Amino acid sequence: MKKEKIILTGDRPTGKLHIGHYVGSLKRRVELQNSGEFDKIFIMIADAQALTDNVDNPEKVRQNIIEVALDYLACGIDPTKSTIFIQSQIAELCELSFYYMNLVSVSRLQRNPTVKTEIQMRNFESSIPVGFFTYPISQAADITAFKATTVPVGEDQKPMLEQTNEIVRRFNHIYGETLIEPEILLPDNAACLRLPGTDGKAKMSKSLGNCIYLSESADELQKKIKSMYTDPDHLRVQDPGKIEGNTVFTYLDAFCRPEHFERYLDEYPCLEELKAHYQRGGLGDMKVKKFLGAIMEEELGPIREKRKEFEKDIPAIYEMLKKGCEVAREAAADTLADVRRSMKINYFEDAELIAEQAKRFQE
Ligand code: TRP
Repeated sequence: MKKEKIILTGDRPTGKLHIGHYVGSLKRRVELQNSGEFDKIFIMIADAQALTDNVDNPEKVRQNIIEVALDYLACGIDPTKSTIFIQSQIAELCELSFYYMNLVSVSRLQRNPTVKTEIQMRNFESSIPVGFFTYPISQAADITAFKATTVPVGEDQKPMLEQTNEIVRRFNHIYGETLIEPEILLPDNAACLRLPGTDGKAKMSKSLGNCIYLSESADELQKKIKSMYTDPDHLRVQDPGKIEGNTVFTYLDAFCRPEHFERYLDEYPCLEELKAHYQRGGLGDMKVKKFLGAIMEEELGPIREKRKEFEKDIPAIYEMLKKGCEVAREAAADTLADVRRSMKINYFEDAELIAEQAKRFQE
């Protein structure tokens, strides 16, 4: 049998999705979905993982389920092609995590760079919740439960995929070939690997207040672009400016395509020429920001409009999610059955075992 190509990926519902999610993963997912190359696609709203560092804020997680679902649909995730579901509704994932926990050492978890940074960011140093500390294991359960071969995510998720593959190899080594090793699929454009915040800080994050959301209004979008961080030493238009670390140019690297020049800035043939002029001096920040504003409106405008359409029938979206959970649960249950069999804890479906034991006691 040909190996199925399966995608699993997801996001924590801690806020609306922003353009970092979009260029880092979301846009790619839609392309992959529409390529027709995949047999199954699972997109998970990782509420249980969100609760690992939001224990005391269940309402936030609850409110954002629908926001994330709306963002998915607005971007073009199509529930007839992809299964959108909610992590907490798939109890099988907990059971898998419980078994995988025996395959990972505490020191290995401590070395996970993403977890390390998150511990610092959340001031967890003195008291790390066990659930949070072990979320990479639960993420391995998410991925393997769906027999995912491909996981399209942002660069920050690389350590999770490495950890997953270690778990898969260890499991298969001990219990026999059961789980599938997934491949990470990173954005191919370097600027999209980690889009900085509008303030130039390395990461776009809600807590830093430096996000541009997918659902941003047209006005708010332009306002945020106008106040973006550029080169702090580029004081007068005639001064030479720096491109490196200049957020406006990083965003252009992520969003600009050749045809945008014809449409919005035809005195330049391409991005390289625009950059060269900025570096030479004589090109003002405002002009570059206006160009970026036009490009981003072209990309985000249709998403915003589509979102408004979906917002008109919220109960239908919950219904779609519920169906997605049913499909996902079935897939995860299949894998769990394989895992139980391999781990020899499938006592009651193993007639041979019962016969063998009966015989042993008769002798
Ligand atoms: N860790 C991911 C994030 O923070 C969310 C996530 C949970 C995920 N489980 C996953 C992503 C499995 C990919 C695969 O956004």
